[in-house]
Amino acid sequence: MAEEQSEQTVTPWEVFTKSETGIDYDKLIRDFGSTRIDEALINRIEKATEKPVHHHLRRGVFFSMRDLETILTLYEQKKPFFLYTGRGPSSEALHLGHLIPFIFTKWLQDTFDVPLVIQMTDDEKFLVKDNLPLEEANRLAHENAKDIIALGFDINKTFIFSDVEYISFSRDFYMNMCKIQKHVTFNQAKGIFGFGPSDNVGKICFPATQAAPSFSSSFPEIFHGNKDVPCLIPCAIDQDPYFRMARDVAPKLGYQKPALIHSTFIPGLRGMQSKMDASGDPNSVIFVTDSDEQISNKIKKYAYSGGGTTAEEHKKTGGDCGKDVSYQYLTFFMEDDSKLEQIKQNYTSGKLSTGDLKAELISVLQKLISGHRQKRERVTDLMVKKFMSPRKLNYPY
Ligand code: TRP
Repeated sequence: MAEEQSEQTVTPWEVFTKSETGIDYDKLIRDFGSTRIDEALINRIEKATEKPVHHHLRRGVFFSMRDLETILTLYEQKKPFFLYTGRGPSSEALHLGHLIPFIFTKWLQDTFDVPLVIQMTDDEKFLVKDNLPLEEANRLAHENAKDIIALGFDINKTFIFSDVEYISFSRDFYMNMCKIQKHVTFNQAKGIFGFGPSDNVGKICFPATQAAPSFSSSFPEIFHGNKDVPCLIPCAIDQDPYFRMARDVAPKLGYQKPALIHSTFIPGLRGMQSKMDASGDPNSVIFVTDSDEQISNKIKKYAYSGGGTTAEEHKKTGGDCGKDVSYQYLTFFMEDDSKLEQIKQNYTSGKLSTGDLKAELISVLQKLISGHRQKRERVTDLMVKKFMSPRKLNYPY
C-alpha cells in the first residue's frame, strides 16, 4: 500500500514520520489545504487584542488555520463567537501533549472573553479501542475533566460534556448529528478517514458526533437560543479531517463553517518521529501525574539528544536543536523568549551541555506539573458537576 511507503502518516489515529527532524508541517498544510499563520496575522491579533500573543503562536506551535481572519473581524466588530475543543478520554491521566491545546484554549478564552464548549468523546474511545468498556470511558471523561478544570477555565463561560450523557439529554444535538450524517456518504467518509470493511459502523458514524459541536444550534440552552454563533476550534492538526467534513456539510445545512487553529504535535521523549502517545511506550510519555523524580528520571534516561556523542565532541561541534527533544519541549513550555534564545545559542555552539539543557527542562516541567497537581487536588466533584451541567453561559456582548 502507498501508505507504507510514504514518509509520514497523520490521521486522527496515527502520527508518524520517518524523518529525524519530525513531521513536515509544510507538507501537511499543502495536503490538508489549510493556511500557515504568518507574521501579518499575528500582528493583527496583537493589534485587535492589545496584548502580546501567547508564546505558542509566536513560536509556531499553533501554526496553521482556516478562516481565522473571519473570527478576528468579528472580534474587531465586537460580535460574538465561541470556542470548541475536546478530548478523547482513553487514559486515567493526561500527558504533556494533551495539555497543549487546553493551555492555548485557556489563553484564547481569557483573551477574547468568549464561551467555550469541551467535548469528551467517551463514545469515540469506546468504539476505537479494543479493551475499553463504555462505562469506563465515561468514568475517564469525568476524571479527565478534573485535569481540564484545573487549568483554570472560567466556570461561567465553559461547558464540558460527555458525549454519551449530552446526546441522551439534548434533542438539538442529536438532530444536528442526524442532519450531518445524512449529508456524508460512506464513500466520502472512507475518503476522509480511510475506513475499511472491517471497521465497526459506530466508528463510521462517529465523525458526525465530533462535527456537531461546531454549530451553536447544538447547544440552545447554552447560547441563549442563538443558532448562528460562529465557532473557532483550537486543535492538534490530526483532528482536521473531522472539521474538513464539518465545513463541507455546513452550507448544506444553512450553517456557518467553523474556523480552525491547528497545533503541531509534541514529540515523544525518544525522538521526533512520533507524537507523545499515552497508549504507546510509557517511557516516551510524561504524564501530569508523574512525580518530580519520575520526570527527572525519564528525561535523563530517555529524552533523545541532539548533542554530540561525547562531551568533547559536543564542545567542538555543538548540538542540533531541531532533533533535540529536550530543547523542543522547552519551546512548548518555557515562556521566557530571551532565556530560550540564549539556551538555543549556547546549545548550538556547544557551550551548553546536554546534561545542563536537560536540567533546565526538568526544572520547568517539575514546576509546571507540581503546580498542576496542586490545582487538580482542589477540583471538587461539585465543580465537575457544575462544569458538566448544561446551562446558560455568560456572554460578553
Ligand atoms: N477526537 C479527539 C481526541 O481523540 C477529541 C475531540 C473531540 C476534539 N472534539 C474535539 C479535539 C474538538 C479537538 C477539537 O482527542
